[in-house]
Amino acid sequence: MDYSNPKLIIETADLEAGTVTWKSPSNLAIVKYWGKFGDQLPKNPSISLTLENAFTETTLEYRPKETAGPGISLEFFFEEEPNPAFAQRIGAFLERLIPVFPFLPQLDLTIHSQNSFPHSAGIASSASSMSALALGLCSLEDNLFQTLNDDQEFDRKASFVARLGSGSASRSIFPYMAFWGQHSGVAGSSDQFAIPLENEIAPIFKTLHDDILILSKKEKAVASTKGHDLMNQHPFAESRYNQARQNIHFLLNALKSGDLEAFGRIAENEALSLHGLMMSSNPGFFLLDPNTLTAIERVRNFREESKLPVYFSLDAGPNLHILYPESVIPEVRLFLESELMPLCEDQVWIADWAGEGPEQV
Ligand code: DP6
Repeated sequence: MDYSNPKLIIETADLEAGTVTWKSPSNLAIVKYWGKFGDQLPKNPSISLTLENAFTETTLEYRPKETAGPGISLEFFFEEEPNPAFAQRIGAFLERLIPVFPFLPQLDLTIHSQNSFPHSAGIASSASSMSALALGLCSLEDNLFQTLNDDQEFDRKASFVARLGSGSASRSIFPYMAFWGQHSGVAGSSDQFAIPLENEIAPIFKTLHDDILILSKKEKAVASTKGHDLMNQHPFAESRYNQARQNIHFLLNALKSGDLEAFGRIAENEALSLHGLMMSSNPGFFLLDPNTLTAIERVRNFREESKLPVYFSLDAGPNLHILYPESVIPEVRLFLESELMPLCEDQVWIADWAGEGPEQV
């Protein structure tokens, strides 16, 4: 797939300045993407839950370039402040995107971006921020050239562009659940972009809650790009990719049939496998907090005793995600507040749930 399009060049002198704004959510992988090759392509397919409350809102202002030149002209503000580190990362990303959006060097760009969640929450901010930016760029293309008026084509291109920024961001484009990675059992699936799973899941999965326990606010010790790299020399790499493929197969069946228990079993197996892979890489690293282990034990005991469908997942950090359907909110919240909240740093946890996907503001 090649989105390079040299025709997307502004030819009129009377281009008007404009603004586009998108809110785009983070997502939690149930089957994890861990290991990549080539230009941000995944070693195995992944399936994610799109969140609602954890989002990035990004505004892209554009106007004809004042001083003509070949490069990207960008001012970048994060949470209202100029942010040189982010500006450099986003600038380099936009440079790489010039073959896809050749009109970018013809514009002066100002980007304002803010997150709905604290940095320390360990929520994947690259997923929400890169997807919000990708959606903004696709809207910008559509404003200038009216090339993306088909919704499906728009989402696919946004997912493709988001993936180039951060693999997991490709999945944030779609409501409820998304699938990323080529898989013979899923029609239309691709390594290049994610696709929606909304029509492949039983209604109960659209009611999933994901409460995030902030067990430690410490910065994570390893960036995910480094973690992906370590998979290249990992002694368990091939077994891991087979395990992920198997979990994909079982999870797709569970999602279709509404089998919450199988869903939970796979979510937990994937979370622990991800951390197992990190611990057994070379160098190995350990991102869990002692309280993560205590919280996991309490969730499993509570499930055993109450027989309620409550499960956990983890991202590449210590904070525990508690997954359960809407129908058991009262019981789970009581348990969470009495047994899990005391384990959280400053007693902080964040309520989130399956979301409807990005929104143009
Ligand atoms: C553990 O998408 O952050 O959250 O493509 O290098 O930006 P890059 O990596 P990233 O990796 C996400 C890893 C994960 C699992 C997942 O979201 O699938």
